[in-house]
Amino acid sequence: MSNDWVDLRSDTITRPTQAMREAGLAAPVGDDVFGDDPTVNALQERLASELGFEQGLFVASGTQSNLLGLMAHCERGDEYLVGSEAHTYKFEGGGAAVLGSIQPQPIPQDADGTLPLGLAERAIKPKGDPHFARTRLLALENTFSGRVLPQAYVDDARALATKHELGFHLDGARLFNAAVARGVAPREVARGFDSVSICFSKGLGAPVGSMLLGSAALIERAKRWRKVVGGGWRQAGLLAAMANHAIDHHVARLADDHARAEKLANALRALPALKVEGPHTNMVFATLPADTLQDFFKHLEARRIRVFTRGPALRLVTHLDIDDAGLERAIGAFQDFYR
Ligand SMILES: Cc1ncc(COP(=O)(O)O)c(C=O)c1O
Repeated sequence: MSNDWVDLRSDTITRPTQAMREAGLAAPVGDDVFGDDPTVNALQERLASELGFEQGLFVASGTQSNLLGLMAHCERGDEYLVGSEAHTYKFEGGGAAVLGSIQPQPIPQDADGTLPLGLAERAIKPKGDPHFARTRLLALENTFSGRVLPQAYVDDARALATKHELGFHLDGARLFNAAVARGVAPREVARGFDSVSICFSKGLGAPVGSMLLGSAALIERAKRWRKVVGGGWRQAGLLAAMANHAIDHHVARLADDHARAEKLANALRALPALKVEGPHTNMVFATLPADTLQDFFKHLEARRIRVFTRGPALRLVTHLDIDDAGLERAIGAFQDFYR
């Protein structure tokens, strides 16, 4: 890290490496609204081909990518089935409802992150009855809070979507973490979905950018909505080159983040005061004794360590900017306080 904070709040906090910055500066660019940016076009073609889709659309963020995906699948008055804890439903400002007049139907999720397919099926509205919104889409998230969805579950969800003629969307913000954890090619994780959103700006370490992948018809609709929400951008090749660099250099190394998360989880589990959950790919969750919170957070601040907290619940995320020395500092801070 260029400053001395060990920041475990999220894998979104990574800063572009020097090599990534240089890749951005060297990129040939053009006006992407005209379809003229060769670096954007190459990245879209590359990921569409590698993940098994007809086309890709490079966009500013995962929130925008999910939103465009939902709006490309659903029309005003349609409904999508989604996990009650899913990012798309809970943490994206209700964008599908605000901008697409799309009704979310949240399905309570099991502890492993899956949404029970029996519940999802029962939530599908009868067709052809004007009392009901039209259920049009099933949306999953992989990884979900770091948890990798089992492929057999995804296959069953695909079968449910097919049976009820629903679209099938994946929020794959951390799809590459799932692929690396399973030891499969990324296209295996994308398999079966009609649309997938991936993020370059999380564990892959790019500063900006996500991509929606799907059929040519779906991407055409999404592209129109991208313009409507002000997401048409011009010389975006600077960013696309950095995203491309991330795909070239930062996918395999996600295994290092997963190994560090495991080391962190094992060290915290050895402290009886803490209740530890995980690791799940690059994430570890821990609950602290409530009466220690104030003092512990002061202790972390003094050690220049940052974590994401909701009350006594912590989320710790390993990423490109956490090296072995940083991890040891974080572990030492927990040990010195709780041992
Ligand atoms: C699972 C998931 N999906 C989507 C997003 C949205 O991405 P962005 O912050 O780029 O809008 C995030 C962001 O953290 C996320 O964790």
